[in-house]
Amino acid sequence: MNSLLVTGGAGFIGTNFVRFWLKRHPSSRITVLDLLTYAGNRANLDGVDAELVVGDIRDEALVGELLASRSIDTLVHFAAESHVDRSILGPDAFIETNVLGTHALLKAARKYWLATPGTPHRFHHVSTDEVYGTLSATDPAFSETTPYAPNSPYSASKAASDHLVRAYHHTYGLNVTTSNCSNNYGPFHFPEKLIPLFIINALHGRALPIYGDGMQVRDWLHVEDHCLGISRVLEAGRLGETYNIGGGAELPNLQVIDTLCAAMDSAFAQDPTLAARFPDAAAAKGMPTASLKSFVADRPGHDRRYAIDCSKASSELGYVPARDFASGFASTLHWYLDNEGWWRGILDGSYRAWVEANYASRDAAS
Ligand code: NAD
Ligand code: DAU
Repeated sequence: MNSLLVTGGAGFIGTNFVRFWLKRHPSSRITVLDLLTYAGNRANLDGVDAELVVGDIRDEALVGELLASRSIDTLVHFAAESHVDRSILGPDAFIETNVLGTHALLKAARKYWLATPGTPHRFHHVSTDEVYGTLSATDPAFSETTPYAPNSPYSASKAASDHLVRAYHHTYGLNVTTSNCSNNYGPFHFPEKLIPLFIINALHGRALPIYGDGMQVRDWLHVEDHCLGISRVLEAGRLGETYNIGGGAELPNLQVIDTLCAAMDSAFAQDPTLAARFPDAAAAKGMPTASLKSFVADRPGHDRRYAIDCSKASSELGYVPARDFASGFASTLHWYLDNEGWWRGILDGSYRAWVEANYASRDAAS
């Protein structure tokens, strides 16, 4: 694994993975292929020794050229449309990127790596636990043999991509692995997802919109633990296999939100400069952050519970998440407080412009 192509490496998990990998393998060469959609951010890779190629995973010729010119031996595929709410508003982009984009990568990989039999290579596909559908409170956690039952356009598109990856292994002999992980959180998380959205809303004194009754359960995984899991799969995962990666932190949304509110209050109590920096925050006005909680209409088709059984990754690969939710969340909150420029750049700049240019027309067409 000397030369890696990382798709979506300027997004949340991809950025963390590139940083994680280079810290442990400083002699590896990394090429990032990223279209820099609204979710991609060039600044995420500032100071990182990786080449950024701005381009589309659906561009099979470009991917083929990169595989050859950079002598790529390992492709780690993160690039995707990743937000469930957006997939409900405008599914087309999800089919294009997640299904057709993954297929373009597979075609290019097959052409390049399988042209000369015996060429060492590995194609790792990053997927989600959402492909398994939803669990009741008493169902056992998702294992690698749980039947697929995706419920949103996002999870259906990821399920389709998982099946294509599997088919390229069984039909053509491409060396593939797939990991299905639970909800990530941590640095560089795009502020449309629950945790970063609520941190930033709380800092502005804006409502915290809780879908439905707030009792949906997610299994929270610190992004560095996810990167650890992917590294273990790359190093020791059996070809053609899938591995579930979880954080061992199953929590209802309300508990996550209450943890967030309490941590925000205590951050403001401990650091008086925060009230001056964020004068609109409830905590700056002597009110509890929890007073911003606001129950809103539920997400259509909202999955009730996800839970990951990662015993296969533990027993085969020695994967064990290092962080519990309390410590992982505390460090995440401090990252957002210390990196205000990062999220302000997104809220004020490329995010707004890109959404206006792309989603307005796509949503109208859907
Ligand atoms: P993200 O939305 O933060 O980043 C996606 C990246 O892909 C962005 O940098 C974007 O510019 C890039 N991209 C989008 N379309 C592209 C295209 N056509 N060509 C090239 N680049 C393109 O997503 P994330 O949260 O970092 O998720 C990464 C992967 O992990 C996705 O495949 C997602 O399905 C999966 N996943 C995410 C989570 C999670 O909790 N965030 C959990 C399970 C699985
Ligand atoms: O399970 C893995 C998945 O986790 C990934 O495949 C997806 O890419 C990732 O976006 C995430 O999906 P979720 O839909 O679970 O994440 P999100 O942060 O959007 O929502 C988490 C929970 O919080 C979910 O039950 C919906 C709820 N929610 C979310 C938002 C944005 C709210 O109650 N209010 C909100 O404003």
